[in-house]
Amino acid sequence: MANVDFDFDSLREAATDVLESAAQGVNRIAMENLEFVKGFTRMCNDGWLQGWHERNGGNLTYRMTDEDVAAARPFFDAKPREWVEMGVTGENLAGSFFLSTGSGKYMRNVTEDPAHNIGIVEINETGTAYRIVWGLLDGAKPTSEFPSHFMNHSVRVAATDGADRVIYHAHTPGIIEMSFIVPLTDRDFTRRLWQMMTECVVVFPAGVGVVPWMVPGGPAIAEATSNLMKTYSTAVWAHHGLFAAGPDFDTTFGLAHTVEKAAALYVAARAANGGSEDWLNKIEDKGLVDTCRDFNIAINQAFVD
Ligand code: 13P
Ligand code: ZN
Repeated sequence: MANVDFDFDSLREAATDVLESAAQGVNRIAMENLEFVKGFTRMCNDGWLQGWHERNGGNLTYRMTDEDVAAARPFFDAKPREWVEMGVTGENLAGSFFLSTGSGKYMRNVTEDPAHNIGIVEINETGTAYRIVWGLLDGAKPTSEFPSHFMNHSVRVAATDGADRVIYHAHTPGIIEMSFIVPLTDRDFTRRLWQMMTECVVVFPAGVGVVPWMVPGGPAIAEATSNLMKTYSTAVWAHHGLFAAGPDFDTTFGLAHTVEKAAALYVAARAANGGSEDWLNKIEDKGLVDTCRDFNIAINQAFVD
């Protein structure tokens, strides 16, 4: 019989590596099958199918429930990554967990490979920093718009008594086109969008806020956007797209979809009308007010005459 020298240390190391990567694979599959992760990845794909996410355009975050965290925790990394200061503070979000798309990641790839394109972050006890606890593999980071998402979450949690959980940013073409031809005020955008389609005033009765063009990706645009989010569930980013907030994926996607459809209608109707806003027929202010009365919805009075 041949005399074999066993190197037990390297054997043990190799076995550990195999077990670790098998465990990682199992964790990935288990995580990707959780309902909130499936809802999140579906929404990324829905936006892609609408044509709102060229390249890495747009991003999505979801504030997890305690039940989501309990279900996901067994699949978190053995060792969380380093804390990263955000440059903004959300005290009411201390200790929260968020699922976030990755910076530079493409929405069209999310469903195919969640673990590389999205990840879960934990917020520290002062609401100033995050650390990655799952996903965003191979050195990826949460979206560069995380400060805006985080501040919007902070404001919407307060405004809705904790109901809002989703913040969505999309590069919606109709809204971008409108920024060229409509004065950049909340009132000018809201009135035009409400008038495009009967259901608009029902879907966003508070109206939309407008952030003038700003450099994206930092605390300044986060501050400007979250100030508007105290009043509105939708904020237009001039020449860039929109932010929408809501309690779940359906409502938030539906809101962005409605606003963007109205914007596309506005641009098409105006072009068809030779560039003029002198419409032959339109929904009058009384119609907007009557609709809200019958639907038992509070219209933003500041935007009706
Ligand atoms: P991220 O790839 O960092 O999410 O940025 C995309 C984007 O839309 C910036 O506004
Ligand atoms: Zn963007």
